[in-house]
Amino acid sequence: MADDTPAVDPGLLVTSRPLDEYCGLFGLTRARLAAVPGPVLDCPGGAAGLPAEARALGCHVIAADPAYALPPPEVAAHALAARAAMAAAMAARPELYPPARLRPYDRYLRSWDRARRLYTADSAAHPEQYVAAALPRLPFADGAFALTLSGYLLFAYPERFGPRRQLDALVELVRVTAPDGEVRVYPLHDGHGRPCGRLDALRYALGERRIASEIRRFPRAEDGRTRRVLVLCAADHRRRAAGNSQQAGGCI
Ligand SMILES: C[S@@+](CC[C@H](N)C(=O)[O-])C[C@H]1O[C@@H](n2cnc3c(N)ncnc32)[C@H](O)[C@@H]1O
Repeated sequence: MADDTPAVDPGLLVTSRPLDEYCGLFGLTRARLAAVPGPVLDCPGGAAGLPAEARALGCHVIAADPAYALPPPEVAAHALAARAAMAAAMAARPELYPPARLRPYDRYLRSWDRARRLYTADSAAHPEQYVAAALPRLPFADGAFALTLSGYLLFAYPERFGPRRQLDALVELVRVTAPDGEVRVYPLHDGHGRPCGRLDALRYALGERRIASEIRRFPRAEDGRTRRVLVLCAADHRRRAAGNSQQAGGCI
């Protein structure tokens, strides 16, 4: 593993979201994923069902997470604990989650159970798609991925990812993404719903490193509100694409 990050940090949940939840979080659809012209990176992957479910769409996903230094059943055990923590959090702070009448908690958590089971079977059958690695350093070549997703890490745990580490991690995610690809990061708030107060400074620092950033808003299917996703790509490509009106704004 590329970092001294422990395989599982007890302060972080190893969550197990299914593909449809990923699509909702990152403003994607199954059709859009199926059309991505190259491999997709999911970092951190957690115990998600994304590599297994995306394969059925013809989309090749590599998941990276320090937890993959452990055997899959141990990762799954952490994910089961994360499920219990999530159930407790939804009961204690319902205002932070979509209303239960729109997204019943039990049904939601059962979707995590299915994803966790998929992860356990799939990571045993296809271990090459689950890479033990820790941001801010990843063991992938420059431009290896057409699309990179990073959910519930960099801004969700500001006590673990301070400003310097956030910047280094974002730069690393862009490095491993193709110049005409995109990095999408969600959420832009922490576990208490507090928005990242350093986003403007971070985007400025990214700009200095020739990385273009935008906050894209996607509708949230559960309640019609919008979700803010940080989208990054190589600034030089963005500039060239803007000169070609047919490609402008379209990285994936
Ligand atoms: C809340 S989960 C998010 C998993 C998945 N992206 C999701 O949305 O469900 C946080 C994950 O970050 C992983 N993690 C912890 N430190 C990390 C690091 N330095 N680089 C990459 N992943 C890390 C943890 O092992 C855990 O699986």
